[in-house]
Amino acid sequence: MATYFITGCNRGLGLEFTRQLLARGERVIATCRDIATASDLTQLALSSQGLSLLEMDVVDAASMREAVDLLNDEPIDVLIANAGVYGPRDAELGNVDGDDMAQVFYTNAVTPLLLTQLLMPNLRKGNDKTLAFVSSKMGSIGDNGRGGAYVYRSSKAALNAVVKSLSIDLADAGFSACALHPGWVRTDMGGPNGLIDASTSVSGMLDVITALDAARSGEFLNYDGATIPW
Ligand SMILES: NC(=O)c1ccc[n+]([C@@H]2O[C@H](COP(=O)([O-])OP(=O)(O)OC[C@H]3O[C@@H](n4cnc5c(N)ncnc54)[C@H](OP(=O)(O)O)[C@@H]3O)[C@@H](O)[C@H]2O)c1
Repeated sequence: MATYFITGCNRGLGLEFTRQLLARGERVIATCRDIATASDLTQLALSSQGLSLLEMDVVDAASMREAVDLLNDEPIDVLIANAGVYGPRDAELGNVDGDDMAQVFYTNAVTPLLLTQLLMPNLRKGNDKTLAFVSSKMGSIGDNGRGGAYVYRSSKAALNAVVKSLSIDLADAGFSACALHPGWVRTDMGGPNGLIDASTSVSGMLDVITALDAARSGEFLNYDGATIPW
């Protein structure tokens, strides 16, 4: 049994990660912004063994510190930094707002690094030493053939740069890190026209995460294991 720490678990991919890992008998520390309104998650906690809920708003440094303090040095094997935002859908060339862009950057690129730093004592105590960051193919510069989406694309490209450096800096300590593309998934963010459901996306990403080793660390990986260009 491994211990997973996952952000953004009250809905979408985070909730599905939590469901599938509990069904596999893993221990999950699931975080969300407000436990009182996270009804699917609290229902899971009532009906499953091995689930702990923690409140954490990833853009609030104090909230992140308080959540990590509550872990009391518990070892964590796998971090899945999943929480993310798309930002304003109508932000295109000519009307991008700097404050909106900074906020999306902070959520998608800055907080995964800050959380990794905070969790490092727990992660060093874990056996697996796996760091998985839910990015997006829209953050791929090599794959960008359509332009636009300045805010979201650049925030995920920045996250990818963070992941690459972590994979290099932490290699000697035995860590593997990857950026993941979940596919275009039918969640609140992906919308109803997404190509796959959350169950397909998450079972694929979990296969990629559990197989991640030093040889594939530092890669940008699709949910089916294919390599995506940076
Ligand atoms: N769906 C897709 O097609 C797709 C494609 C590529 C990449 N992704 C990435 O996959 C990840 C999960 O997306 P999703 O489709 O599951 O989106 P979603 O349904 O919109 O869920 C987003 C999750 O992130 C949480 N979150 C956002 N800001 C947060 C904050 N400041 N503190 C804590 N939690 C916060 C949300 O919590 P609240 O409920 O409190 O807002 C929610 O749990 C994201 O990183 C996204 O960029 C998704």
